[in-house]
Amino acid sequence: MAFKYQQLAQQIVTEIHSDKLKAGDPLPALRKFAHQHQVSLTTANQAYEWLQRQGLIVAKAQSGFYVKGQPNSLPLSAPTPKSISIHHDPSDVIFDIMQNALTYDRIGLSNGFLDESLRPSLALQRSLKRTAKLANITANSYGHTQGEVKLRTAIAELMRSRFCLVDADDLLITNGCLEAVNLVVEHISQVGETVAILTPCYSGLLTALQYANRKIMEIPCDSQGPDMQHLAELFARRAFTTLIISATATNPLGFNLSHQDKKQLAALAKQHQIYIIEDDTFGSLAYHTQETGPAYAYQHDGFIIYCSSFSKDLTPGMRIGWIASDRLIPALMRRKVSMNITCSIPCQLAMADYLLSESYPAHLRKLRSTLQIQVMKLQACILENFPTGTRVSTPQGGFFIWVELPDSLLAMDIYRQSVQQGICFMPGHTFSMSGQYDHCLRLSVTKTWSHHLAHAVEQLGQIAEQLMQKQTACKTIVESN
Ligand SMILES: Cc1ncc(COP(=O)(O)O)c(C=O)c1O
Repeated sequence: MAFKYQQLAQQIVTEIHSDKLKAGDPLPALRKFAHQHQVSLTTANQAYEWLQRQGLIVAKAQSGFYVKGQPNSLPLSAPTPKSISIHHDPSDVIFDIMQNALTYDRIGLSNGFLDESLRPSLALQRSLKRTAKLANITANSYGHTQGEVKLRTAIAELMRSRFCLVDADDLLITNGCLEAVNLVVEHISQVGETVAILTPCYSGLLTALQYANRKIMEIPCDSQGPDMQHLAELFARRAFTTLIISATATNPLGFNLSHQDKKQLAALAKQHQIYIIEDDTFGSLAYHTQETGPAYAYQHDGFIIYCSSFSKDLTPGMRIGWIASDRLIPALMRRKVSMNITCSIPCQLAMADYLLSESYPAHLRKLRSTLQIQVMKLQACILENFPTGTRVSTPQGGFFIWVELPDSLLAMDIYRQSVQQGICFMPGHTFSMSGQYDHCLRLSVTKTWSHHLAHAVEQLGQIAEQLMQKQTACKTIVESN
C-alpha cells in the first residue's frame, strides 16, 4: 500500500478479519488514533473514511466510530473421517462443471483466476511488447528445456525473498503449476502407490492423480489445516509414498499452516524419507505480512519439492509455472523433454521482464489487501442471504470461501437451478474422491466487489431457501400422513 492512511486502515482490516476487533467494538477517537500512530489528523481521518467506504466501520453521531456489525458465522464443522481412500469418481462431474464455468458463468463466482480488474494487465502487456522483438529472434528455436535463464534468475530471487535457498540452476520452468505437480508425481512415485492429499482438495490434483493411476489417500482438514499428530502417525506407518500439500492460502479452505507445522512437515519428510510435493500456487496471496515462507524454506535435505506458478496472482494465460528442487531438476528435465520439450519463449521473456520491472511487490501488496476486503464482503453477503445454519470459512489468504450448507441441502440441487441463471460455483463433491462435501460449495471473489456479485449471491441464497422450504413442506406432509 502506497500511503500511510492505507497502511493504518489495513491494520484495522486485519484486526477485524482476525476477530481481534469485533462487531460493535469502538475505535479510538480520531485525535487519539492520530496520536497513537504519530500521524496527522488528516491521515487518521483518511484512514477512517476509507474504512467507512469499504463498509467496515460506521460513524455514530456524537459517539465515534464503531466496527460494523458483520453477521456471525458458525465455525466450519470439524472433520470426522480420518484419512480415507477413494471410492467414488467425480472426474466426469468435474469436467462438466469446468466446461459450464467457461460457457455459462456470467458472474465469476466459480472462477479460479483473477479478473482483468485485479490483474496488472497494462504492465504485463508492456512487458510482452518490450520483449516481442527479442522473442521473435529467440523463438526460432525451442529454447532451453530448463527455461530461460533470465526468468529463472528472477524467480530464484523471489524465492530467496521468501527464505528459500534457491538459485537459477535449482529451477525448472513448466507450463503452470499443474504440469509441475504432474511431472514430480510421475518421477517420485510409481503407478499403484498411494499419494496423500489434504482434503477438501483442488479438483485438478485429484484428477491428475487419478489419470496417473495413483491411489489417493485423503487427509481431512479443518479451518486450520490437518491434524499434525494424525499426519505424523501416517508418516510413521508409511501409509503413503508421497504427500501433496499446500501451506499457504489453500484452495479451497484458505488456511495458512503455522511456522511450527511447516517445520514439523519438513522434519517428518526427512525422518521417514518420504517426499512432500508443496503446491504453492496461492503462496503469494496470504493476507498477513508476517510471512514465514513456504514449507520448502524449512527443509535442507531435498525431501520437499516445490511447485508454483503465476496463475493466481498474475495471469493463468501465460502458463508460467516452476519446480524448485536441489536434487531432481536434471531428471525432471528429461521427463519434460519427452512431454512437451519446453515452455513458450515469448511468455517466459515477458514474465522475466515484468518481474525485473519491480512492480510485482507493489501489485501483490495491493492485491492482498483488496482480496481480504472482498472476501469479507462475500462472507457477510453469504451469511445474510443463505439459510440459517450455513457456515462459512474465514480464509487467511486467496479468493475463495468454502460454504457448508445445512446438512439436508445438496449443493448440486442449487447448482442445477443457478446455472440456468448464469450463476456458477464449484459444488463441494468435486473437491474429494470420497463423495463427502455434497452439502458444501466454493465461491470465489476474483473481481472488484459489485452489486452484480451481491445480487448473484442473493439469488443463490434464495434458491437454497426455497429448497429448504420445499423440504420442510414435504416433511410435514409425510409426518401428517
Ligand atoms: C491448488 C492449485 N494448484 C494448481 C493449480 C493449477 O495451477 P496452474 O494454472 O498454474 O497450472 C490450481 C488452479 O486452480 C490450484 O488451485
